[in-house]
Amino acid sequence: MDSQIGNLAGAPTPDHDQRAIELSVIVPTYNEAENVPLLIGKLNDVLVGIGWEVIFVDDDSRDGTSSIVRKLAQSTVGASNVRVVQRIGRRGLSSACVEGALASSAPYIAVMDGDLQHDERLLPRMLDALKNGNEIAVGSRFVAGGDVGAFAANRIKISKMGARLARLVVKQELSDPMSGFFMLRRDVFERVVRRLSAKGFKILLDIFASAPAPLKVVELPFTFGSRTKGESKLDTMVAWEYAMLLLDKMLGAYVPVRFLMYLGVGTFGLGVHFIILWFTYKSRALPFEESQSIATGIAMIFNYWLNNQFTYRDQKLKGIRFVYGFFSFAVICSIGALSNIGVASYLFTENQSWWLAGIIGVVLGTVWNYAMTSVFTWRVKPVDSKVLSDE
Ligand code: GDD
Ligand code: MN
Repeated sequence: MDSQIGNLAGAPTPDHDQRAIELSVIVPTYNEAENVPLLIGKLNDVLVGIGWEVIFVDDDSRDGTSSIVRKLAQSTVGASNVRVVQRIGRRGLSSACVEGALASSAPYIAVMDGDLQHDERLLPRMLDALKNGNEIAVGSRFVAGGDVGAFAANRIKISKMGARLARLVVKQELSDPMSGFFMLRRDVFERVVRRLSAKGFKILLDIFASAPAPLKVVELPFTFGSRTKGESKLDTMVAWEYAMLLLDKMLGAYVPVRFLMYLGVGTFGLGVHFIILWFTYKSRALPFEESQSIATGIAMIFNYWLNNQFTYRDQKLKGIRFVYGFFSFAVICSIGALSNIGVASYLFTENQSWWLAGIIGVVLGTVWNYAMTSVFTWRVKPVDSKVLSDE
């Protein structure tokens, strides 16, 4: 092996097309079939004299983005610098960027969108900035000379609010921590990669929040272009995912954020339970036992739905799986409730402290429910479990 590396090192200097790759441009894509060929063309134009490659990380887009990248890579002479990592059964902008960067060996890594909204002409300047001693270069919409382009007024407001909230987890001053356009040195990436949450959209913020010490950063202004082809994937969930990322950065070292979400949903469910109980028992004057049963049933369905929607958004159960999932959830939570009551009653007779027995029962039931549903209800998706079982 060593001798092979030695041979490579001693090989003649590569010609222009085969020069060593200095810069990997990582492009997360989801349904960007029309944009990908244009982006490759633009990179070709702007990165002359630089050894570069582009790695698209595509989450199995329905519009065939992955196969379009492969066709382009096959048809263009010397296009060994165009690759795609196709992920099946997965979604996520941040994790796509991380996996793209891990698939590359270049000393400099750039991340940019695949929809031409990020100005590729910034790339050579970013590279220069890194070679001149900076650790990370960020394309910013909010530094002097930058512009948000055709952003709607409320989106600007949201971005600015997001940037302010970012101060909770990033200690250094940044004009645009929500930017998805940046370049960093590989060693900086490797220093932080194991600490990343890699959840949601905000990979840059994640990197800054995960860095053990402030990063030497330069912010370069650019104008956010407008999307002409395809659709934005940002939806209302982005705000939620952002909140989760911030929480994870603040508390994730102590408690899993998923568990916190589960607790939040549970608390909400308790509220639902009491509203239904009030309605059935007080307002409709049904017998208590019946009222309590109805309230419990509805709260359970509601909790299941909310957890599926939010807590396990990344492995959301749909169709028939949603129905099966509910049964396993209901069975597990019923066992949780029984053991809660059993243990609490036992402790109560032993100790006589009603509140302590009550708390221990509830904690036990909750942890049981969380642990068991995370394994059985929202278990790893079939593709992933197949991969695991092949090991
Ligand atoms: N692999 C993968 N998986 N890629 C995705 C996913 C996903 O689940 N969701 C979106 N993408 C890709 C898109 O195809 C696009 O190339 C890029 O990520 C950005 O997605 P857009 O949907 O175009 O986002 P945007 O333009 O609204 O948001 C931009 O602005 C934000 C700042 O407000 C992005 O640059 C964000 O990164 C940036 O934070
Ligand atoms: Mn976009």
